[in-house]
Amino acid sequence: MGKTYKIAVIGGDGTGPEVMVEGVKVVKVAAEKFGFQCEFQDYDFGGERYKRTGEVLPDGAVEEMKKYDAIYLGAIGHPDVAPGILEKGILLALRFALDQYINLRPVKLFPGVDTPLKNKGPEHIDFVVVRENTEGLYTGTGGVLKKGTPDEVAIQTSVNTRKGVERCIRYAFNVARKRKKHNTLGLCGKTNVLTYAFNLWERAFHEIGQKDYPDIKREYYHVDATCMWMVKNPEWFDVIVTDNMFGDIITDLGAMIQGGMGIAAGGNINPEGVSMFEPIGGSAPKYTGMGVINPLACICAGQMMLETLGEEKAGAAIERAVMKATKEKIKNLGAGRMGYSTSQVGDLITQFVADGV
Ligand code: IPM
Ligand code: MN
Repeated sequence: MGKTYKIAVIGGDGTGPEVMVEGVKVVKVAAEKFGFQCEFQDYDFGGERYKRTGEVLPDGAVEEMKKYDAIYLGAIGHPDVAPGILEKGILLALRFALDQYINLRPVKLFPGVDTPLKNKGPEHIDFVVVRENTEGLYTGTGGVLKKGTPDEVAIQTSVNTRKGVERCIRYAFNVARKRKKHNTLGLCGKTNVLTYAFNLWERAFHEIGQKDYPDIKREYYHVDATCMWMVKNPEWFDVIVTDNMFGDIITDLGAMIQGGMGIAAGGNINPEGVSMFEPIGGSAPKYTGMGVINPLACICAGQMMLETLGEEKAGAAIERAVMKATKEKIKNLGAGRMGYSTSQVGDLITQFVADGV
């Protein structure tokens, strides 16, 4: 008997719980096939619970999450709840409290998937963004003065610590080393304007690279140019490391060039602790309960979860199954346009994993 992993499942809001049913289904079959077990425990954190109880994360929730090997998250965001409350109270709160300092986002175009980029195919779009996940503009550092008056002042500060930057950069170098694509790590920043923050990033980047990763080539790109090249020459990229805010923005661009929110997954990773995996698309509330939303992104998040837990063969098997599905079966990834229901897509992937494609 292989290992048993304890996994906390937060279906969350809107279509989150629907895609999560399919993700759990696929992970279970992969576990069976590769000789390990996953025990799932559901949590009802999200907009409905907040509306009922006024609470985002209940007392003790963070401590409880620490008992798990991983967290599998559907989506957070509810149309009746003001923007920011659930995102900050649940998603960001867990990222920060569990010190998930890496946001890992593969940008990979699977065979058969449409990209809006002309003349680009899977051979061109295959890179990874390593986004810092606990600092930068996301710490809530700042304040407001004279709110609501013509003299209002709003200050929101980007926090960059040597420790935070360094651990993120080291993680990214390791990703580049493991991928063996171009053996290149690119720092994405804005050294020409954000001269304090990205000067720290740049020095750390070159010092660490020179000393500990001489085999990895170092490149630097301004964030605006990164956006340009992601569209024009995505094949140039291997691994990109960047801060929280820039990472947030460029990974949505990345999601679009890999075929959209139906396929894009991410991991909030604490390499020494509990990590959390999610489709990055959001709760898509207008499709709730219709069975038309695409679960592939959630399934790919499950793949990342298994890989991070060390079950790399099971993860690879899920990826092969998803690739076979996009190549041969699911021609349109959009909600309601797949030609399959949410659960039929889950069944298809489950079958492919079981068959060992
Ligand atoms: C993401 C999301 C979140 C972020 C939001 C929902 C707070 O956009 O995971 O990229 O900005 O990090
Ligand atoms: Mn985002």
